[in-house]
Amino acid sequence: MRITFVLNGDETELDVAPERRVVDLLREDLHLTGTKEACGSGECGACTILVDGTPRLACLMLTAQLQGRRITTIEGITRDGTLHPVQQAFIEYGAVQCGFCSPGMVLSSIALLEQNPNPTRAEIREGLIGNLCRCTGYVKIVDAVEAAAMLHSHPNPLPARERGLAPSPLGGEGWGEGEPLSSKAKSKSAHPSTPLRSAQDAQCHLPRSLAELWSVLDGEPDAAVYAGGTDLFVKMRNGLANPRALVCLERIEELAGVSEHGDVLRIGACTTHSQLLGDPLVREHLPVLTHALRGLGSPLIRNMGTIGGNICTASPAGDTLPPLYVLDAQVELRTKDATRRMPIRDFIVGPGATRLGAYEILTAIRVNKPTSFNVQHFEKVGHRNALACSLVSLAALLRVSCTGVIEQVALAWGSVAPTVMRSREVEKILVGEKLSLERLREVAALTRTIVAPIDDVRGAAEYRHKVAGNLLLRLMDTEDAG
Ligand SMILES: Cc1cc2nc3c(=O)[nH]c(=O)nc-3n(C[C@H](O)[C@H](O)[C@H](O)COP(=O)(O)OP(=O)(O)OC[C@H]3O[C@@H](n4cnc5c(N)ncnc54)[C@H](O)[C@@H]3O)c2cc1C
Ligand code: FES
Ligand code: FES
Repeated sequence: MRITFVLNGDETELDVAPERRVVDLLREDLHLTGTKEACGSGECGACTILVDGTPRLACLMLTAQLQGRRITTIEGITRDGTLHPVQQAFIEYGAVQCGFCSPGMVLSSIALLEQNPNPTRAEIREGLIGNLCRCTGYVKIVDAVEAAAMLHSHPNPLPARERGLAPSPLGGEGWGEGEPLSSKAKSKSAHPSTPLRSAQDAQCHLPRSLAELWSVLDGEPDAAVYAGGTDLFVKMRNGLANPRALVCLERIEELAGVSEHGDVLRIGACTTHSQLLGDPLVREHLPVLTHALRGLGSPLIRNMGTIGGNICTASPAGDTLPPLYVLDAQVELRTKDATRRMPIRDFIVGPGATRLGAYEILTAIRVNKPTSFNVQHFEKVGHRNALACSLVSLAALLRVSCTGVIEQVALAWGSVAPTVMRSREVEKILVGEKLSLERLREVAALTRTIVAPIDDVRGAAEYRHKVAGNLLLRLMDTEDAG
């Protein structure tokens, strides 16, 4: 497959095996070895690159996805041999030891400062939470980013042309978007490619519309579709999937974005978690979902993973699922010839199992604005704040009267049963009751008898029983409660 893209400011044309991982192409074929690989499964951020200015993981991207994109690797941020100010700050503040994490850390920092030129230390920590450092310690790294942020003008900004953005407040003398590229297009033939592990002979297709998708699927009956690849590629790496062909849905316009249709919000299946977090409609109407998204994976995972992928993976620990269950979300499913809808609780039938039919894809999620509720709450308990699957989670919608009486309630727990669990019994008991710690304690005791968690590597069933009840007590802490 021949692809053209902009690599570190240079137009580049390559013959590639489309299913080859971007990290392999960069390191092995293009000798851009600043991009590192450590975990190979999205957990460390060593392979961070900027794709159209957004940090993404090169170990979970295929070369086909580079087509038409602007890619920046660590090699692309120096100018005329001068280090980028963020690099300089890393050196000056001793934020580097072995340096293995540093390229990813620096690129994530640059993107963070583009979005938020004056971050607090907490915001810097949150922005870099998907980039792990095993030696330096985060204090010095945060010091360095803070120092870089304090520079009001950078002598050597990341060129605007590589960010796909207008010149930034950090950018000083940045280039304008319309300015022609300085270097000529490069045409190369990449080395013979090695494919994504355990995807021998796989092909990768990149349709741009549903019409194109149907025609690809006609010719590739055994193809697996993917969006962000943050679940599928990890499975493939672990030998749990080996599709003959891959179809990337990320460019299909009909699958992207959030739209308002009267009382209904329609969320395109390929909308990424980061896009949802930034969406004004989601922020205004669905705080229960935004609470859940804030703790999903890391910023890097959220830049790639999609709501549709989270639903189709059908993990009982999927963070968007409890919110979608309390919202009584409907999934919109399409084949070439038909569209159907069903409640999400009917769509997901077990861990990793859905009612998705052959040649069918999830196109959207439809949610009624939850106007009758005045409290939206989500809490997840995991081993740490980021990159942790939930041990137990709870999403709750409540209507609490001005006298503190619960008039309406919807509750859904994650990771306590084969699928997300709603309990009408618990909900029924709470309606008409005053929201009080005493009442919640009683209902928490009942909840512990209803949930059916399992022991697994992440946690013991007994612990999950306890936490499932305890999470209800936190409803007393919600802003609008009582
Ligand atoms: C390091 C790491 C941390 C993570 N942390 C969390 C976390 O904290 N919480 C959490 O919930 N998840 C987490 N995940 C899992 C994952 O990121 C999410 O589930 C994400 O939403 C998956 O979306 P995706 O687009 O990447 O899915 P993909 O990998 O692209 O697809 C997943 C599955 O869904 C199918 N699929 C995708 N889109 C469609 C569609 N439109 N129609 C039909 N089928 C489709 C694919 O065929 C595949 O089987 C983590 C993953 C990693 C690697
Ligand atoms: S190598 Fe660890 S996230 Fe890519
Ligand atoms: S400096 Fe060694 S991993 Fe961060």
